[in-house]
Amino acid sequence: MPTVYVLNGPNLNLLGQRQPEIYGSTTLADVERDCRALAAELGLEIAFHQSNHEGAIIDLIHEARRSAQAVVINPAAFTHTSVAILDALNTFDGPVIEVHISNVHKRESFRHHSYVSLRAEGVIAGFGVNGYLLALRHVAKLVG
Ligand code: DQA
Repeated sequence: MPTVYVLNGPNLNLLGQRQPEIYGSTTLADVERDCRALAAELGLEIAFHQSNHEGAIIDLIHEARRSAQAVVINPAAFTHTSVAILDALNTFDGPVIEVHISNVHKRESFRHHSYVSLRAEGVIAGFGVNGYLLALRHVAKLVG
């Protein structure tokens, strides 16, 4: 079964409590559960992680080089700051899909630029937590 790493950046551990008017009331545990249920339907194996630390996310991307066929990543604030995460993703051979829960283009201008978009095959923004599921459906078509 193809394996997909689903990676989440800083503050997403607080999903459901953090600015619910922007990010909704679903928790990251709910997102993980829904991703696992859909992955089982689609015939994908999932490794689901969250970290508040840039280096830890980079280590997970390096791990994905050996263990995964695709990466779905919500880099959160690192989207807009991290050349290091871009560089790590550039060492990964399979498809990368960037997910944002909110529509970053409707928000502050500093959220309009993404380093990760320079690598991502596709970007999903503004579909709420459903964006993760849309990303998995697309990944299943690419690597399934
Ligand atoms: C986010 C958007 C980012 O700008 C923000 O820093 C986040 C979450 C989103 O999912 O909408 O933490 O990636």
